[in-house]
Amino acid sequence: SEFGLQFELTPSSTARDDAEREVILSDPGFGKHFTDHMVTIDWSLDAGWHDASVHPYGPLQLDPSASVLHYAQEIFEGLKAYRHADGSVWSFRPDANARRLQRSARRLALPELSTDDFVESIRQIVRADLDWVPSAPETSLYLRPFMIATEAFLGVRAAQEVAYHVIASPAGAYFTGGVSPVSIWLTTNYARAGKGGTGAAKTGGNYASSLLPQQEAYENGCQQVLFLDSSESNYIEELGGMNVVLVKKDGTLVTPDSDSILEGITRDSILELAEARGHRVERRRVTIDEWRDGVAGGDIVEVFACGTAAVVVPIAELKGEGIHIGSPAAEGGELTMSLRAELTDIQYGRRPDVHGWMTRL
Ligand code: COI
Repeated sequence: SEFGLQFELTPSSTARDDAEREVILSDPGFGKHFTDHMVTIDWSLDAGWHDASVHPYGPLQLDPSASVLHYAQEIFEGLKAYRHADGSVWSFRPDANARRLQRSARRLALPELSTDDFVESIRQIVRADLDWVPSAPETSLYLRPFMIATEAFLGVRAAQEVAYHVIASPAGAYFTGGVSPVSIWLTTNYARAGKGGTGAAKTGGNYASSLLPQQEAYENGCQQVLFLDSSESNYIEELGGMNVVLVKKDGTLVTPDSDSILEGITRDSILELAEARGHRVERRRVTIDEWRDGVAGGDIVEVFACGTAAVVVPIAELKGEGIHIGSPAAEGGELTMSLRAELTDIQYGRRPDVHGWMTRL
């Protein structure tokens, strides 16, 4: 862009050949393989954002006293690049990810990157690694922008030197079972966020605090953990890495409203699609009792999880100490699956982008 950062390209001299890449793209899994390039942009209090580059993927050089390593001053994003049938590559609402990164930056006392520079950074890495965007059904190139405090200083204050990077990872389904319904573990011993905390920011610490309860989930045969708010009222918040939506018999979609959960772009988009079909959408506080009684009484007929990595996944059951809630539509309810299809049809270019959500890269 005319006034934006200019990116300098240093092509990788060790890029993998077509055969090596095809082996990886034929079964990418999630988050295991990375492309040949990455983006770096540096920031300092004196110079602002500078030295934007696309260069070979590889280890970062960090001073051991870099404040990110001690005080977790870090934020990140997650979005995907999708290959359409004509070979073109697109991203989904990258401006929404840019704005969320700006909100996260404010909360973590990090510098804001402009929406134009963010979108350009996505375009730059995707163009450098275009052949890494897979074309098999339900696959994509997962993009992980992140920002870290690099200043070598152990005093506890906002860093005056920061780096922004983007790495890219070919992706299939987040869960090994694909879209088959998942079991959720309700943790009552741990919370992920509190009032005034960092719950709404996409920052590593929130995910770090989810790991122990997430382990508890695995030990109980569940794929994700559900957090309640930290009050005594048992309001549901979100899962370790995705949002949750309940579907009522009359077609109403209900999702927690809270200032301590991540404002999911997938969730927002799904709810907008549902509203456009004439469904009622309620963003409000939801208790675990409402979920349990609603399923028991037949008023709640579907429950699903959603996120960029996971897309839309039906929830088969919620388990916890002294609680078990089954799902009336264990195989994935009709509305869940049709909203999932509509969203992915837009993302993969199989349906007109009437909402103006797609950006060509
Ligand atoms: C995403 O959905 O992109 C996330 O950041 C969450 C994580 C489970 C990968």
